[in-house]
Amino acid sequence: MADDHALPIVRTVASLRAHITPWRERGQTVALVPTMGSLHEGHLSLVRMARQQADHVIASVFVNPRQFGPKEDFDAYPRDETADARMLALAACDLMYAPGPLDMYPAGFSTSVSVGGISEILCGAARPGHFNGVATVVTKLLTQVAPDVAIFGEKDYQQLQIIRRLARDLDLRLEVLGAPVVRARDGLALSSRNAYLSKAEREVAPRLHAILAEAEKALAAGEPVAAVESRALAALSKAGFTGIDYLEVRGAEDLTRQGPGPVSGPARVLAAAWLGKTRLIDNVAVG
Ligand code: PAJ
Repeated sequence: MADDHALPIVRTVASLRAHITPWRERGQTVALVPTMGSLHEGHLSLVRMARQQADHVIASVFVNPRQFGPKEDFDAYPRDETADARMLALAACDLMYAPGPLDMYPAGFSTSVSVGGISEILCGAARPGHFNGVATVVTKLLTQVAPDVAIFGEKDYQQLQIIRRLARDLDLRLEVLGAPVVRARDGLALSSRNAYLSKAEREVAPRLHAILAEAEKALAAGEPVAAVESRALAALSKAGFTGIDYLEVRGAEDLTRQGPGPVSGPARVLAAAWLGKTRLIDNVAVG
């Protein structure tokens, strides 16, 4: 079948820049959407937001080995470049940047970017080194593409705040935008890792969002943080989550702890919990 929606795929920084240079010479703007592929509606919502923001949209697809721990799912992580390319083309993306591991990390690569403090808590405490891997690859992607705008999902809320911090700290000349979480009808946040869930686990999974939403309601009504956190933790165990990395109420910007009394200022409830071998994360804004 003829492919009306073919979009160019580039794998090296040189060919990436060969595409971008003529756009820049014409004074046009560029938006970047970094991803690890296995794309779903959540990713595509970012591409559509990017479309509103700039003349050209680039999506990167790179399963970044440096952000996976030695016992994590790097090998199992779902990959389907053909489907990704088709979905990006349909979402009116202009260019897919899909470097190989050696393009991104050639022999001798020895630099690491680390955003202090905010990277050590929540997912950073549960996954040591994870956010250094994220910050390193995102810094590289932002330097390679030099976009005017980069879009990240609130699904990975801590990651979004780390990247905002990184862009400020390194004086990167771009705007970092956050996009709302895209959910299945039953509330489960879309994630490439949902593919790991068994049928029975998939039925329990939406409870994560439901419990966060209940917690949010209680906090918005002025209940103390400590009481809301412990009730929500108990609800997660009762729902059948096999492990809980955290469920915490934090300040929306710098993610400092809230409580034990009622929330003060903008806040977020964030959680990470396991169903068998699948780790799910989610978060909601308070108020
Ligand atoms: P990945 O998990 O593929 O996610 C790519 C982007 O899509 C992230 O900004 C993420 O927050 C967003 N996203 C995923 N699911 C979403 C949903 N249901 N609703 C809204 N946005 C969603 O996050 C990464 O890749 C990597 O860490 C990366 C930033 C690419 C660095 O390797």
